[in-house]
Amino acid sequence: MSDMGANRRILTNRQGHPVHDNQNQRTVGDRGPATLENYQFLEKISHFDRERVPERVVHARGATAFGYFEATGKVGDEPISTYTRAKLFQEAGKRTELALRFSTVAGGRDSSEAVRDPRGFAVKFYTEDGNWDLVGNNLGVFFIRDAIKFPDFIHSQKPDPVTFEQAVPNRGFDFFSQSPESMHMVMLVFSPRGIPASYRTMQGFGVNTYKWLNAEGDTVLVKYHWLPKQGVKSYTAADAAKVQAETYGSHTKDLFDAIEAGDFPEWELHVQIISDDEHPELEFDPLDDTKVWPEELFPLRRVGRMVLDRNAENFFAESEQIAFGTGVLVDGLDFSDDKMLVGRTFSYSDTQRHRVGPNYLQLPVNQAKNAEVRTNQRDGQMAYYVDNAGDNPHVNYEPSILGGLREAGPAHDEQGPEIKGRLTRARIERTNDYAQPGDRFQLSEQWEKDDLVANLVDALSQCDRRIQERMLWHLYMVEDELGARVGEGIHIALDEVADMAPLATQTLTEEEEQRRQNLGNNGPRDVSGHVMTHCVPNERVAVADEPDLAEV
Ligand code: HEM
Repeated sequence: MSDMGANRRILTNRQGHPVHDNQNQRTVGDRGPATLENYQFLEKISHFDRERVPERVVHARGATAFGYFEATGKVGDEPISTYTRAKLFQEAGKRTELALRFSTVAGGRDSSEAVRDPRGFAVKFYTEDGNWDLVGNNLGVFFIRDAIKFPDFIHSQKPDPVTFEQAVPNRGFDFFSQSPESMHMVMLVFSPRGIPASYRTMQGFGVNTYKWLNAEGDTVLVKYHWLPKQGVKSYTAADAAKVQAETYGSHTKDLFDAIEAGDFPEWELHVQIISDDEHPELEFDPLDDTKVWPEELFPLRRVGRMVLDRNAENFFAESEQIAFGTGVLVDGLDFSDDKMLVGRTFSYSDTQRHRVGPNYLQLPVNQAKNAEVRTNQRDGQMAYYVDNAGDNPHVNYEPSILGGLREAGPAHDEQGPEIKGRLTRARIERTNDYAQPGDRFQLSEQWEKDDLVANLVDALSQCDRRIQERMLWHLYMVEDELGARVGEGIHIALDEVADMAPLATQTLTEEEEQRRQNLGNNGPRDVSGHVMTHCVPNERVAVADEPDLAEV
């Protein structure tokens, strides 16, 4: 044995037995056969056989870092207690530990991070009242508005089930062309914002509408926005191609290296607040996650900042096994009736019980480490300890006259508006699927418009003619210029789609019907005075030499 090894600690197996030889199996003679009673070898190899847990069905590739949230005690200029009693927000300067996992959506665990895809932005706050997870993305809206469509949407983004060919535009655009509510998100994903230059230079959003609740039980609707101090920076497809030719893990490395070098990324948390009602005066439904709330009407109000100052020490334990869910809220925060949110809330912990195991909340990264956990939940696969059971550990049920845990007492009084309605299966009334995508196009920077057109042309060129026509019709419904430029790129003229009827599943508003009848000749939408979420500068991080996008 070399001197170098003499001071090192001894390798053992998981039973604590020293390993005397880690190079050779136990065999009868040096040429074998091997013996089956070789516990050390069997423990090692059978553990290896189980090294992987199922990867996430979506958001499989991700990176986690840790840090803190610091409250201002206010929402904008007002005391925050006016709107929420959530403890983490109340005092100026109060810090709460947190974990943040960034991710891509569609690819597998080892896939490229420089792809066109929304990015996950999932924050776990370890508050004194237990954990709060804010599980969002970098684009502020989503492709669909009803959770029942999610498995179909995701299948359309995954490889072909027969050939396993990846990233097939025909599949995604087939789905989009039949789901007009996806247009707003398509506009963002196919713009440069669909390929952030790094996780540190993107915005984050809660996307779904949540509620806040104050000490009197009054509720408001809120949307969450994370604004990066590092600015917003993106790649074009050519930049991304160059990056991923070198490495698939560019974003994880960038985040890790920055934190390791003491260059801690920081975001400000802002909220938009509106009263807890249906808002019939708006052209969209405030519970619709394909829409943003106009910022000139509902301004952003700062509530604190987040700093990431620590890397994960073990990727598997802290990034693979971390588990977020939209149902994980603390007192003072609540759900809205958003039909996506309720579906998500079931889905996350359901998949985590399958993916990580029923005791996933006992793992250190998922534990409510700043609150005490006392439950009567027992046993199951990988139970690591018994949750604190109070003074009498024999009583693992409630109610009991003998001891055990007791209820905390009433906390959730009646709250929120009264809801009336008959059981139904129906789309929301105010779909308005084209106005915000149209405004978005007008309010984009010129290079973003050019890049969007180029990316749509590239993707649609690979699609069936029927899909191209329907998509072109939608794009004209969004904005004349967008339709005309994409049409030119895929060689389909306006009059080839001008007479198309709406989808059988669509009900157009009067204004939309007029646009349809006038398709391609509606003139630019008026966006004067309009401040849309994402109207922040977006800087291209040029990696590739590229022709002028406007010429594409
Ligand atoms: C009904 C719609 C949705 C369903 C059913 C759904 C379901 C899921 C599932 C099953 C996972 C894997 C969780 C795990 O294995 O730990 C996941 C991850 C994730 N989802 Fe969704 N999702 C939906 C919509 C959304 C939306 C709208 C957003 C963004 C606002 C979003 C953001 C995320 C993020 C960030 C992750 C990764 C969390 C992590 O880093 O571990 N999802 N989703």
